[in-house]
Amino acid sequence: MATAPSRAQDRFTSPLHDPRIATLLGIALGVTFTVCFVTGVLSHLVQDPPSWFIWPSRPAGLYRVSQGLHVVTGIATIPLLIAKLWVVYPSLFERPPVRSVAHAVERLALLPLVGGSVLLLFTGLSNINIWRPWQFSFRSGHYAAAWIVIGALVIHVTAKWATIRRELRDRPQRPRSTTDGALDRRGFLTTVFATSGLLALLTAGQTVAPLRRLALLAPRRPDVGPQGFPVNRTARSVGLTDVDPATYRLVVDGPGVSQPLSLSYEDLEALPQNEATLPIACVEGWSTTQRWQGVRVRDLLDAAGAAPDAEAIVVALHQNRRLRTSSLNRWHTRDPDTLLALRVNDEVLAPDHGFPLRLIGPNRPGVDQTKWVARIEVRA
Ligand code: HEM
Repeated sequence: MATAPSRAQDRFTSPLHDPRIATLLGIALGVTFTVCFVTGVLSHLVQDPPSWFIWPSRPAGLYRVSQGLHVVTGIATIPLLIAKLWVVYPSLFERPPVRSVAHAVERLALLPLVGGSVLLLFTGLSNINIWRPWQFSFRSGHYAAAWIVIGALVIHVTAKWATIRRELRDRPQRPRSTTDGALDRRGFLTTVFATSGLLALLTAGQTVAPLRRLALLAPRRPDVGPQGFPVNRTARSVGLTDVDPATYRLVVDGPGVSQPLSLSYEDLEALPQNEATLPIACVEGWSTTQRWQGVRVRDLLDAAGAAPDAEAIVVALHQNRRLRTSSLNRWHTRDPDTLLALRVNDEVLAPDHGFPLRLIGPNRPGVDQTKWVARIEVRA
């Protein structure tokens, strides 16, 4: 857009194809992409922690805020990206198409930038709607696309730095309004930002309780489901609709215990019961706070003779690979609110919420709050 218009560009007569609008939308996109990238990488680290990363159990709602922000910001990005692409698309018809090596690199970086952004927003949006019309793992694809997009964004911002500075420094010289009653620059930007804000508002209720009634675009309402809150994975989907409490056993074993335990449902009920009010915060962005009652994990580990800083793996009764196990680091095993819950809000857990026993702990993604727990394997 900074070059003299070619004949092809003469076709794009709207004053909204304007570098100042492109700059302002670009800044907004830079902010939303950075928020999504930071919160997304955090979610990745929490679920697949490398040895140097230890996720604390406090504050209890940190993952809820971070992942809620990720999804709401991602959705608010959609109108911003569409508007930005529309504003700048005449630049694709610039002539000559390549002016130098640096210009060639800048233009080539547009491919991963635009393609990766569209892929990120599409996969993210489909994933929260539990519609996955692709063959690859969502997490791997979305994660790889995020790094590619952020890399391409850095190249793009560097290449456009002079234009960005000029547009922010100089007062606009171009006419503010269009001739035919169409939107002027301010009207256009207001419409785009208002649409973005409205989408955020209509989604945020899936995690911000006071906005619950406005959650018209949220795929899950946090107050709808068995026992008054949602489930992602039902008992039927993992073949566990009728676990018999008479034959059920919880085993606590592994190289880190000196006295393995095998407890029946009755034994678990007879142990001291504790209560914790904790959110369940799904990776798909919804969350809801409930009152959970059950046995402290640390009491069970102590009874099995585990070390005070023991770490453990929680294993479910079913065989679904993705949801079968979760890890408890030493902050989580020792936290007094990390429970193996038998009840929620004083009612026995519904099968969809993990009857007979589920893990619930502070500051954990929902996917790691393992349901239908059968075993705790304590690490050495
Ligand atoms: C409509 C927009 C978006 C939605 C709805 C969305 C949704 C999600 C969801 C649900 C997850 C959790 C997946 C899981 O752990 O199972 C996730 C992870 C992630 N997102 Fe997004 N996202 C969006 C846009 C973005 C953008 C723009 C970026 C980066 C610039 C991004 C970067 C990431 C990263 C790095 C992860 C971690 C992936 C992993 O755990 O391996 N997302 N996203």
